[in-house]
Amino acid sequence: MRRKLAAGNWKMNGTTATLDQVKALTDAHPDPAVDILLCPPATLIAQMAWARGSHALQIGGQDCHAQDSGAHTGDISAAMLKDAGASHVILGHSERRADHAESDADVAAKAQAAHAAGLIAVICLGETLDQRDAGTALEVVTVQLRGSLPDGATAANTVIAYEPVWAIGTGRVPTVAQIAEVHGRLRVTLHDMMRDADGVRILYGGSVKAENAAEIFAVADVDGALVGGASLQAVDFAPIVAALE
Ligand code: G3P
Repeated sequence: MRRKLAAGNWKMNGTTATLDQVKALTDAHPDPAVDILLCPPATLIAQMAWARGSHALQIGGQDCHAQDSGAHTGDISAAMLKDAGASHVILGHSERRADHAESDADVAAKAQAAHAAGLIAVICLGETLDQRDAGTALEVVTVQLRGSLPDGATAANTVIAYEPVWAIGTGRVPTVAQIAEVHGRLRVTLHDMMRDADGVRILYGGSVKAENAAEIFAVADVDGALVGGASLQAVDFAPIVAALE
């Protein structure tokens, strides 16, 4: 049985004042039946780790460098994220693939570094609208998965997040049939690549809200969500967690 995961990606949002949302969220779900993960900007990881107290809330970074240390101004290593209190790191988000030209090989190298540091890599992939319209979505995500998953990936150290680029922050959501088709293809591909593929959690991400969460979570092979905008406020995120429980 895969444990469900409700993950929030705060992207480049949040200051110390925003940390009041941690208490609001943990108060709303004091003893959650699912894993809850928040990925704030790196500046807030240590303070969020303190703010969660004894709650099981998990914390993640949004990127890491492929190397442990060195002359890489502005970058953060996986070990640094871990040291700050993170247990996870999002890698290969489409915004990083687009803004920083990250390739599948870059993502795989970062995931390998994350694993070496003891972090769980949340590897993101998803097709653009042009690719969806061209009918190549399944092929695109298959290539991304094969290229982004590093050697040594296991169900314990890796989570996959399917985030169609055209659904991120747009309010547009694929049909449940489209989500099921992609998640099914990802599961089959994982089976081809690793021994414990059945244990790997595959999240859906892209305009998940309280209103559509239950319908999305009912889809086969959807093990949770990676939520952007609706994870910033506990009042929006708590009902999504509840829909997963
Ligand atoms: O990583 C989460 C994401 O990109 C989805 O964002 O705002 O559409 O939920 P949003």
